[in-house]
Amino acid sequence: MCGIVGYAGDKNAVAMLMHGLKKLEYRGYDSAGIAYLSQGEIKVKKCKGRLVNLQNIVSDEIKEEHHVGIGHTRWATHGEPSDINSHPHVSRDNRFCIVHNGIIENYMSIREQLIVDGYNFESTTDSEVITHLLHYHYKGDVIEALFKTIHQLEGSYALSIICNDYPDQVFCVRKDSPLIVGKGKNENFIASDIPAILKYTRDIYIMEDHEIAIISSKLVTFYNSLGKKIEKQTMKVTWDENASEKEGYEHFMLKEIHEEPVAITKTIGPRIKNNEIILDQLVLKRPKKIIIVACGTAYHAGVVGKYLFEKLLRIPVEVDVASEFRYRDPIIDKHTLTIIISQSGETIDTLFALRKAKENNSKVLAIVNVVGSSIAREADDVLYTWAGPEIAVASTKAYSTQLSAIYLLALSFYKGEKYKDYVNQLQDVPKMIEHILNSTDQVMKTASLLYNSKSIFFMGRGLDYALSMEGSLKLKEISYIHSEAYPGGELKHGTIALIEKGTPVICSLTQPDILEKMISNIREIKARGAFVIVITQEEQVEKINEIADIILPIPNVDPLFAPIIAVTPMQLFAYHCSVYKGNDVDKPRNLAKSVTVE
Ligand code: F6R
Repeated sequence: MCGIVGYAGDKNAVAMLMHGLKKLEYRGYDSAGIAYLSQGEIKVKKCKGRLVNLQNIVSDEIKEEHHVGIGHTRWATHGEPSDINSHPHVSRDNRFCIVHNGIIENYMSIREQLIVDGYNFESTTDSEVITHLLHYHYKGDVIEALFKTIHQLEGSYALSIICNDYPDQVFCVRKDSPLIVGKGKNENFIASDIPAILKYTRDIYIMEDHEIAIISSKLVTFYNSLGKKIEKQTMKVTWDENASEKEGYEHFMLKEIHEEPVAITKTIGPRIKNNEIILDQLVLKRPKKIIIVACGTAYHAGVVGKYLFEKLLRIPVEVDVASEFRYRDPIIDKHTLTIIISQSGETIDTLFALRKAKENNSKVLAIVNVVGSSIAREADDVLYTWAGPEIAVASTKAYSTQLSAIYLLALSFYKGEKYKDYVNQLQDVPKMIEHILNSTDQVMKTASLLYNSKSIFFMGRGLDYALSMEGSLKLKEISYIHSEAYPGGELKHGTIALIEKGTPVICSLTQPDILEKMISNIREIKARGAFVIVITQEEQVEKINEIADIILPIPNVDPLFAPIIAVTPMQLFAYHCSVYKGNDVDKPRNLAKSVTVE
């Protein structure tokens, strides 16, 4: 999704902005641009397409002396990707220049009024109204104009602004869209995302809604929503800078899959002492009901959570997609625990779902990866997944660590006789994944056979169905192969009509109690010509041999823990299909890493 950088300092602003934008590329974008102050004048360079296009038109500026500027990568929402619609946008007198993340929901009515007031619009974006509003309200005081402007805006925004009356400063403000300020030495930064500035500073301020920050090379000043000057504390980012580099892997996605064993160890290790799960920072009572809310991959982790909590704890669990949860009338009260799952901690639908749960007096526990993110800050309790930065758009190690956190949570409430055994098994998960990562030939071979398929189905029952949903999403988002996941017993209620000779179906068979049922379901699709790939524990291979065209074995693991192990071959399969197709694996078309618009 859109990315923002802002710079004021003693280095070349254009080069610094380009560096920041490069680091934000992973968020997904379709155009990019920068604006900088040059001898009191605002200069804008922007264009459609990848950053290399922008790089080509700013190469001269990189050699010159500019010290203040803003930059943007745009993921189109209102208005097609084009040079004109790219940010930054300037006001008609060239005094203000803005970059914007988010959506201004009432932009049409503001635009109509501004046109009546004599303003012309160049772009078809929602964002352009902001520059004209700033111009309209400006009487010599930017802060005043900015407050008047944001009071008129409905929707979400992170804004970074330069004004030629203030040639040493960059202004910023946010609402429901992430924004941080970085404190350096003789330089300060603004960014929508930490990796953009991590090379230069680890001291960051997290902006709250409606706060305004002004940065210059020497100073950072904050105003609260009432216009009063305030002091804020910095937070130290502890990420390893190399974590946002590929370190010899061809793609971030492959690197991140290989990081799963370490990420899981980091997530569970500190929370298990003497074979006992201790979640000390959490003050949770056993709830009467659990609602899990998330989007995409995080939602799929939640579906695994439902099966686990219900099986181990006998607590009723609902799982919902955040954008649906928000607009239905969920039945929640103070006896309900709402679990919010999010890698970024900034997904707007998930953030709003959190607020809805709180409004209904539910306690909210967030399972989040990014420390200090909006969701982490607004939840009552946080269980961090220590996955480190996830750069590839397709989520992999985040999913594995979300599952780890769910296992920790479920087991921390579980009082059954298998407790010790389960805790032991959870600790064995990293080495089982390691084993899979050391023998990937069969997965690669399967991908080489199937990457040209028109459609690939996934099928499983129970936890295997939850897992299949994630396998299917991973495949479609990076390989662009149509895919659907089905419960084993459900395919014949319609979708089996799509099975013809050679249609690949990836079947998860990790749950022995429903193995025979799945075998019958596989026979049904085989009878219609399906090409069957089975993922199962080594100990079951012999039993499955006769019905499978290909078997992708995983180590022998208790069925309860199978999803967290069996997802790795699925991720690798999707990865290799994408590579064979020559796709941009880390930045798949149309997708964004952190979805900060509804
Ligand atoms: C898929 C993927 C997305 C995210 C979803 C939620 O690979 O990455 O489906 O899982 O957009 O994002 P977070 O977890 O940041 O809330």
